[in-house]
Amino acid sequence: MVERTVFIHLPGEPAAVPAGRLTLVEQGLQVQASRFAYGRRYVARANAVPVDPVSLDLASATNDGECVPIAGLALFGALRDATPDAWGRRVIENRLRAPPNGLPESVYLDHAGPHRAGALDVRESPSSPPVGGMLPDIVDLQHLLEAASRIDAGEPVPAHLQDLFSGGPSMGGARPKAVVRVENGEWIAKFPTSNDPFDVPTVEHATLELARKAGLDVPRTRLESLADGRRVMLIERFDRVSLAHGIGRRHMVSALTLLALHERQSADSSYAQIVDALARYGVSGWIAGDRRELFARMVFNILVSNDDDHLRNHAFLYDAPGRGWRLSPLYDVVPKPQVASERMLHLAVGPQGRLARLDNALAGAGRFGLLPPAAARIIDRVVCAVRPWRDAFEALGVPARDCDRIASAFRRPADIGMREVARKL
Ligand SMILES: Nc1ncnc2c1ncn2[C@@H]1O[C@H](COP(=O)(O)OP(=O)(O)O)[C@@H](O)[C@H]1O
Ligand SMILES: [Mg+2]
Repeated sequence: MVERTVFIHLPGEPAAVPAGRLTLVEQGLQVQASRFAYGRRYVARANAVPVDPVSLDLASATNDGECVPIAGLALFGALRDATPDAWGRRVIENRLRAPPNGLPESVYLDHAGPHRAGALDVRESPSSPPVGGMLPDIVDLQHLLEAASRIDAGEPVPAHLQDLFSGGPSMGGARPKAVVRVENGEWIAKFPTSNDPFDVPTVEHATLELARKAGLDVPRTRLESLADGRRVMLIERFDRVSLAHGIGRRHMVSALTLLALHERQSADSSYAQIVDALARYGVSGWIAGDRRELFARMVFNILVSNDDDHLRNHAFLYDAPGRGWRLSPLYDVVPKPQVASERMLHLAVGPQGRLARLDNALAGAGRFGLLPPAAARIIDRVVCAVRPWRDAFEALGVPARDCDRIASAFRRPADIGMREVARKL
């Protein structure tokens, strides 16, 4: 049995406070069960934030009792989100000289470091100080990429590069990445890998900028060219905020957590379920706007064949004034070239399930609270923004060769039900 104190950075505060005690029951490497008890002083704070939206309601935490995760989950979703799922694990294993996924879950939880996703931190006891760890600067990108490539290849990182990841591995997702300081903010650097089929950082950058043109809510991004010609995409962290003294954190959970699901259930889920979770945990006054945004993202994913739209690629941020959860800005959208004309997204779109067609999206729009004309206008807006993708991509530095390689990802609206949509306009 492992006992830890969960800390949280409350809104506007640069230092974390203890929120409660986490108990993990582990068998081998796996967590079998977990329990959490809020601290009495934490619950008494006027600005207390729920550690987990679905399993750890503050209102029911008054009797100092222990809670267990709902829906038979072994670990609270919010703590699962505070632990890296893939890349960050490779960084920890590299440092501890362990094989892939070869460490107990509590070790990953302990070593995710102070720059992990969201506002949670996990420490030994309520009096444990935060782990230090400076973030590397953007000028270190070339060295960071070298260290990341070693980690990706499962090779030891040379001593002179070790310090670059001393602040902890921080983020999940599969691709090599690092958190870097840019001016006074925190950004995620996403690196190229040796087996990329095209220049993924440049294409991801261009895709996110195209999404911005389609009216989607996209964090600031930039593309850095290294001396050796390789490129790195940078995206500003939306779970960090600049404060007068230091950097504050925003509590963030994945859609997997807000839906109270296990990882393996992601592929059986739908955008409509995210809408339902928003109705339950969203912020009144913002829910309708968040649903429209989610609908537009789904349409964008259909048009660029981004079928990596799983439940960890949608996130929610805690909104302190509204005491609820709001859809985070967009991230991790990359066109996937393919030959088949019948394509699927990861999540179900409408009545025809995961079928990636505009008429399927239109037919399912009612679940998003959208009448057909309103849904058709959103689809039309996104279609118009995506149509000139090639000019936009070339202007953003995607080489013509790579545009050719990804061209099959972009759908012709007429082939995927635009006629049906146009009838409602
Ligand atoms: N701009 C951002 N701000 C805060 N967190 C982010 C941002 N972009 C990504 N993340 C978090 O980092 C994780 C990994 O990033 P992602 O872009 O999905 O990488 P990958 O392509 O490897 O899946 C995401 O699941 C999300 O939790
Ligand atoms: Mg991802």
